[in-house]
Amino acid sequence: MLIWLVAAAPARAGDPQAGANVFKSECAECHSPKEGRNKKGPSLFGIVGRHAGSLPDYNYTDALKQAPWVWTEDKLHGYLSQPARQANPGTRMKYPGLDDAGQLDDLIAYLATLH
Ligand code: HEC
Repeated sequence: MLIWLVAAAPARAGDPQAGANVFKSECAECHSPKEGRNKKGPSLFGIVGRHAGSLPDYNYTDALKQAPWVWTEDKLHGYLSQPARQANPGTRMKYPGLDDAGQLDDLIAYLATLH
């Protein structure tokens, strides 16, 4: 049984509970996990699987509005480790990036629960 669980775990096996704490300390200042609630940044409800820059009631920069991708876990990994350099040079998200890979996996596991 245990072996089955390990084998079935996704490639990035973060801990969503730990990720909720990372979210609180790193992201909650600017983002709400609740649907329809924008702060300085857009709501992150349903972010995994959502098209970049797609909330109708949030005023994105062109960098995000014109971004051609859907936010997958891998895409979020790249963006959140270095928002300004990697995925999106024009973004106004003033966040230097999370360089702890374990925390990043936990955070993304948490973001994936926001549906
Ligand atoms: C200082 C404020 C601030 C912090 C801290 C911050 N963000 Fe943002 N975030 C923004 C802003 C502003 C935007 C919109 C950027 C734009 O339009 O270019 C944004 C955009 C995003 C987007 C794109 C959303 C979409 O609809 O395409 C994601 C994903 C995101 N942030 C995740 C995070 C996560 C996860 C954290 C914590 C690790 C975080 N952000 C920390 C302000 C912030």
